[in-house]
Amino acid sequence: MCGIVGYVGPQPALDVVVNGLARLEYRGYDSAGVAVQGGGALHTEKRAGKLANLRQALENHPVEGDGAGIGHTRWATHGAPNDVNAHPHVDNDHRLAVVHNGIIENFAALREELEEAGCKFVSETDTEVAAHLLSTELKRRGDRDLAAAMRAVCRRLEGAFTLVATSVEDPGLVVAARRNSPLVVGRGEGENFLASDVAAFIAHTREAVELGQDQVVELRADSVAVTDYDGAPVDVNEYHVDWDASAAEKDGYEYFMLKEIVEQPRAVADTLLGRVTADGRLALDEMRLTPQQLRTVEKIVIIACGTSYHAGLIAKYAIEHWCRIPCEVEVASEFRYRDPILDQQTLVIAISQSGESMDTLMAVRYAREQRARVLAICNVNGSTIPRESDGVLYTHAGPEVGVAATKTFLTQLAACYLVGLYLAQVRRMKFDDEIDAVIGQLATMPDQVERVLETVEPVRELARSLADARTVLFLGRHVGYPVALEGALKLKELAYMHAEAFAAGELKHGPIALIEEGLPVVVVVPSPKGRGVLHDKIVSNIQEVRARGARTIVIAEEGDESVRPYSDTLIEIPAVPTLLQPIVSTIPMQVFACELALAKGNDVDQPRNLAKSVTVE
Ligand code: G6P
Repeated sequence: MCGIVGYVGPQPALDVVVNGLARLEYRGYDSAGVAVQGGGALHTEKRAGKLANLRQALENHPVEGDGAGIGHTRWATHGAPNDVNAHPHVDNDHRLAVVHNGIIENFAALREELEEAGCKFVSETDTEVAAHLLSTELKRRGDRDLAAAMRAVCRRLEGAFTLVATSVEDPGLVVAARRNSPLVVGRGEGENFLASDVAAFIAHTREAVELGQDQVVELRADSVAVTDYDGAPVDVNEYHVDWDASAAEKDGYEYFMLKEIVEQPRAVADTLLGRVTADGRLALDEMRLTPQQLRTVEKIVIIACGTSYHAGLIAKYAIEHWCRIPCEVEVASEFRYRDPILDQQTLVIAISQSGESMDTLMAVRYAREQRARVLAICNVNGSTIPRESDGVLYTHAGPEVGVAATKTFLTQLAACYLVGLYLAQVRRMKFDDEIDAVIGQLATMPDQVERVLETVEPVRELARSLADARTVLFLGRHVGYPVALEGALKLKELAYMHAEAFAAGELKHGPIALIEEGLPVVVVVPSPKGRGVLHDKIVSNIQEVRARGARTIVIAEEGDESVRPYSDTLIEIPAVPTLLQPIVSTIPMQVFACELALAKGNDVDQPRNLAKSVTVE
């Protein structure tokens, strides 16, 4: 949510910053702006709309700059997404520029104070407060020491923020601060970078530095100095990014989402890679929770948002079945407000692709305050949630740029299965050969995913034929229910269509009243070989909706002839064990939503009003 870039070095700063923003547009895309130093002045340009508008403006009015540069791509919180509210924001002397990600909660009081002191505000944003405050602090220091001024400002701000600033008083310097919002440093040779995500500088360097909570960084071409808000130097954690710039390219696909759907076999394989030791035992990276600690777990609570929440719902079925530990799943934004019962015997599993969702982060902090142990399942290395958790399992899906999660969802599922099996292993809930058997089944999943992808062309055709539908309903039972929820979410996100999912058994308790002639209803059918009773019940549900005029789109295991007579469209998926079926049954849903959205002319990488990483509550 909001992308930030900073650069100091010999390359043309404007190019580095704008190209960096292009890699971060998934974080917000309702306006974009830059500030670059040049000839003792600060040059800024900003435009509402996508980055293309900013690029056009820069072409029409070229900006000359040879010093430090900062840039921003916005997902609006305070103030409409227009040119004026776009970042950067400058002080009244136009000598200092600031970009910001997050929300400054005490901005109204600070604005009043600054206005009384004579500052003129031009925007409706909370960020402008930071620009005026920083300018005031800098002047108080005789226009020296932007970092000290930043520290003083941060001590006064409440809320969540990453702030990045540059001032004409020091053309070779960018200063940044972070609290509860992401920021990483890229270390180059004679040049340094700052960004919300390594994707912004991966084309220049793969050496990164994590910034901790409440830290300020002073970035010069040849140095990176990090302190806390009181100015005390702090040790930083450096790491090497294990993917390169090509992973963040579209590779000939029109949209990242299309590429990311196709990458799913590889991504799932990478999640599973290297998890079994030479003696056949599961070993999870950075688990950091000891077997003894895991043996004392009495309850599991899974917290997550959006698509990650759906992964959590599926995990519950597997964990309870394999480990016999009670498992609750909760939307992260609700969790801490209901006074949940947690203690040292509670294992909280936080699932977050980005590792930055504010709702999930706040739930993690709350859980740890209550002395629960927290295990994070994340995709982005070095992000905040894994850093603040007791242990982490990385999904290793590679960068996901499309706002709607696809490959990261499938890899979250794979990671959840690994966690369930690992718990079963350390708690001796299953024999080793039983665990081996499931690991063996999991190992076949990349091939099964590949097979689904090879057969989805009819799903595309179907989606195009339904581009004018007003509503689509989704039904499922058991693990198929969260898959139905995910199918409906994908359609809402991408096609801006009304879509709803129900547990198929709930249908008769109300939703069946929605069924009318021609209404498309997608049904996820469990394997007839797994829970036979479930299968039979859902076949009845299909008949019920069809009898009332629904157009049935049935996703069922190949060879399941019992559903054919009631399917207007039958989408076959490979036969896999019941609990693992979501890994294959989700894919037709992704393709369906993506294709339908494309048929409507929507941008599937950057759907309206959304952002990939939501760093506000
Ligand atoms: C946003 C994204 C969703 C995502 C959710 C949770 O709403 O648009 O695609 O599922 O955040 O994100 P996380 O990074 O915590 O998994």
